[in-house]
Amino acid sequence: MFDTVAKTAETQQMTAALGLSYSPAVAREAAPLYERVKRVVNELDWATFAPYVLEINRLKKEKGAVVLAHNYMTPEIFHCVSDFSGDSLQLAQQAAATDAQLIVQAGVHFMAETSKILSPEKTVLIPDLKAGCSLASSITGADVRLLRQKYPGVPIVTYVNTSADVKAESDICCTSSNALKIVESLESDTVLMIPDKYLARNIAKQTKKKILTWEGACEVHERFTPEDIRKFRKAYPGAVVLGHPECPPEVIAECDFSGSTKAMSDYVTDRQPRKVVMITECSMSDNVSVKNPNVEFVRPCNLCPHMKRISLPKILNSLLTHTHEVEVDLAVAARAKAAVEKMLEASK
Ligand code: 13P
Ligand code: SF4
Repeated sequence: MFDTVAKTAETQQMTAALGLSYSPAVAREAAPLYERVKRVVNELDWATFAPYVLEINRLKKEKGAVVLAHNYMTPEIFHCVSDFSGDSLQLAQQAAATDAQLIVQAGVHFMAETSKILSPEKTVLIPDLKAGCSLASSITGADVRLLRQKYPGVPIVTYVNTSADVKAESDICCTSSNALKIVESLESDTVLMIPDKYLARNIAKQTKKKILTWEGACEVHERFTPEDIRKFRKAYPGAVVLGHPECPPEVIAECDFSGSTKAMSDYVTDRQPRKVVMITECSMSDNVSVKNPNVEFVRPCNLCPHMKRISLPKILNSLLTHTHEVEVDLAVAARAKAAVEKMLEASK
């Protein structure tokens, strides 16, 4: 709900350009979809979203395309046009499993690249090329080659939030939901976990292995402080606090539970806390609250400016014009695929 003003303005402009409009017939056809999101999308916004939702769903069928949406997508994308949704691991698994030849990645660039790496024969589209990630831009393939020289024999575990070049230089990938399992699966007593220094430090607290890392951080999660959490606890007594492991360890130490976006969502769905605070990106609470009407969500959050570049008009444009097609050099993709597939195998 935090970014709908900007999104609504953008949507209104494109609606006029494409001749889409909200009519009684559109309202009727889109009504079952609105039922899903009416608690988090107001009627005015829905009037601009609905023609896009119907057109995207029609085009997807016509072209045999699928939309893969990350948990940080806004609710009209997450609940109304996605075919598969989830955390980074689930999206990679779904990209590997789908028979669709056309994939639209409603997420950030590294996610689209991971889909392409796993399915080089498929067309993978990212609706906005600028949808990057502060972690992915913190390290290059050349950096990893230097790390190998500096730490010979130390296995390199690379977070999926990286470019194909970086994955290609790695021994195995991980996501926030399998990082500990992957680290524990390695024989070496010392492991290099790149590029998220906070994820690495959070994992270091749970293993006997020595964890070396890199200076990368998620610009969304690094902004939370332990003081923030203490304030929420004071203002909302009894609230359960869930934090993403990309937060600094001092923040995670103040939380009741830490896990990937899927793990946080499952925690709420399975345990039905009376009140919950999600220390993560803004759309999480909206998306999880749709399925959990009895849970009260306290909504402190930080927006990811990269995730928020993806909108309904851009998804529609992507499907119409097949832009922007993600390409990965075949030799790089083959090496990166080995690291991603090792992770998928180890997470079974
Ligand atoms: P997960 O969905 O895998 O927890 O990752 C969060 C994230 O920041 C992705 O960009
Ligand atoms: Fe990258 Fe953080 Fe945004 Fe995820 S939330 S895409 S890790 S900047």
